[in-house]
Amino acid sequence: TYIVTDNCIKCKYTDCVEVCPVDCFYEGENMLVIHPDECIDCGVCEPECPAEAIRPDTESGLDKWLEINTKYASIWPNLSERRDPPADAKAFDGEEGKFEKYFS
Ligand code: SF4
Ligand code: F3S
Repeated sequence: TYIVTDNCIKCKYTDCVEVCPVDCFYEGENMLVIHPDECIDCGVCEPECPAEAIRPDTESGLDKWLEINTKYASIWPNLSERRDPPADAKAFDGEEGKFEKYFS
């Protein structure tokens, strides 16, 4: 599966949503997550994210993010259409430690 990681927080560009063939993105206030059981591993969303927040779960060090994607995909509502990102998205792109500061 692919998963959404830290840099999505407060950027939330949603370009990923537009290309996903199975609509497996779910939306929280500050970020999206992927439902790991619904993702078919096609990989098309990864290069679409301007924040480079989407990673394959085969990459090391992403256990925490796999847990977060799994947990919140079952709680948050589905998002299947692109929407405008927050006006200040660029200001948060690349900031360190966004999970600790802003996750909701
Ligand atoms: Fe959707 Fe494919 Fe990305 Fe999985 S890898 S979230 S199926 S676009
Ligand atoms: Fe987040 Fe990137 Fe999608 S910033 S909303 S994972 S395009």
